[in-house]
Amino acid sequence: MSILVTGGAGYIGSHTVVELLNSGREVVVIDNFSNSKPEVLENIKKITGKDFKFYKINYLDQKELEKVFEENKIEAVMNFAGYKAVGESTKKPLEYYENNISGAIVLLKTMQKYNVKKFIFSSSATVYGEPEQIPITEECKTGGTTNPYGTTKLFIEQILQDLYKSDNSWDIAILRYFNPVGAHESGLIGEEPQGIPNNLMPYIVRVASGELEQLSIFGNDYNTPDGTGVRDYIHVVDLAKGHIKALEKLEKEGKGIFVYNLGTGTGYSVLDMVKAFEEATEQNVNYKIAERRPGDIATCYSDPTKAKEELGWETSKTLKDMCKDSWRYIQNKKGANID
Ligand code: WQD
Repeated sequence: MSILVTGGAGYIGSHTVVELLNSGREVVVIDNFSNSKPEVLENIKKITGKDFKFYKINYLDQKELEKVFEENKIEAVMNFAGYKAVGESTKKPLEYYENNISGAIVLLKTMQKYNVKKFIFSSSATVYGEPEQIPITEECKTGGTTNPYGTTKLFIEQILQDLYKSDNSWDIAILRYFNPVGAHESGLIGEEPQGIPNNLMPYIVRVASGELEQLSIFGNDYNTPDGTGVRDYIHVVDLAKGHIKALEKLEKEGKGIFVYNLGTGTGYSVLDMVKAFEEATEQNVNYKIAERRPGDIATCYSDPTKAKEELGWETSKTLKDMCKDSWRYIQNKKGANID
C-alpha cells in the first residue's frame, strides 16, 4: 500500500515525502512543477537512499489522476498541491479558487471512486482570521479570512466537514500550519519562492546573502513586546513529522474528522527573528522600519496541546535550527549553481 502525495516536489510536500520514506512507507508523488523543480525529487532520493514512483500530472486532470489510482494501491492521500501566495491570490482569485478548490474536489471524487478514504489536508492558521484568543486553539472560531488564498483553505475545510457528514467512513485530518520555515538539515531541499519573497524568513535569507538590499519590517507600533508582529514559526521538518503522526492516527484509530494546529506554541517577533538569524548565521541583516502591511495582525501563535495529546507530536527544532537550516539551503544552492 502506498501513500499518495500531491505536490510532493513542493516545499512542505518534499519534506513530508522524506519523512514518509524514512518511516518505511511506499510513496507515490504527483506534481506538475508549477512551483517546484524536478531536481527536488532527485534530492529526496539522495537524502533517503530510497526510491518512489512519480507522475508529472495536474491534479485537476481526473483522467490522469485515475490512472495513478489504477496503477497503484493507494491507502491514503496527503494533499500539498495548491497555490499559496497570499498577494498573488488577491490578483488572481479565479485561478486560486479553481486550482485549490476544484483540485481538491477532483482529488476527493477520485478517491471516492477508488474507495480510498484517508485524507490529510494542508490547512493554515489563516483560517482563524483575526484570532478570537491567543494562543489559538482548534476550538477558536474560523472565518474572516482576508485573502482568496486563505478562503480556499477555509472552503476546503468546509467541504471536508460536509463530505464526512455525508459518509462517515472517511478518515480525515485537517492540519492547520502556523508559519513554516527552515529546510532539511542536509541543505538539499528547502523553500524556493519565485521572484521577490513575501514571507519573512525567505526575505531575511536573501538580504543576508546580498540578493536583496534591505528588509522592510512592516510596522513597529503593534501591541506586542517590541512593537513588531509576532508569529509561531515552525521548522518544516517538525511540520512534516506532524503528518506522519496524523497518518498513524488515521491508520490506527480512524473513523473521524480531526483538526490539529501544527505550531510550536511560542511566538517570536520580527525583530526576534532578525536577531536570531544574525546570531545563528553570523550574517548581517540590513533592515528598516516601514509601514504596516495591510491585512497583517499583531500576534498569532498556536496552542499545540491537542496535537501533543492526541497525536503524540511535539516540535523539537529550535529557532536557531530554523535560521541555520534556511541559510544552509540557500548557500548550498548557490554553491551548486557555481559548480
Ligand atoms: C510574518 C511577519 C509580517 C515580510 C503568511 C500567510 C499564511 C501562511 C504563512 C502560507 C509578519 C512580517 C514579513 C517582510 C516583515 N501562508 N514581515 N517584512 O503573514 O504571518 O503568514 O505566510 O503559505 O497564510 O498569511 O507570514 O512571513 O509573511 O510574515 O516585517 O518583508 O513578518 O508583517 O509580522 P504571515 P509572513
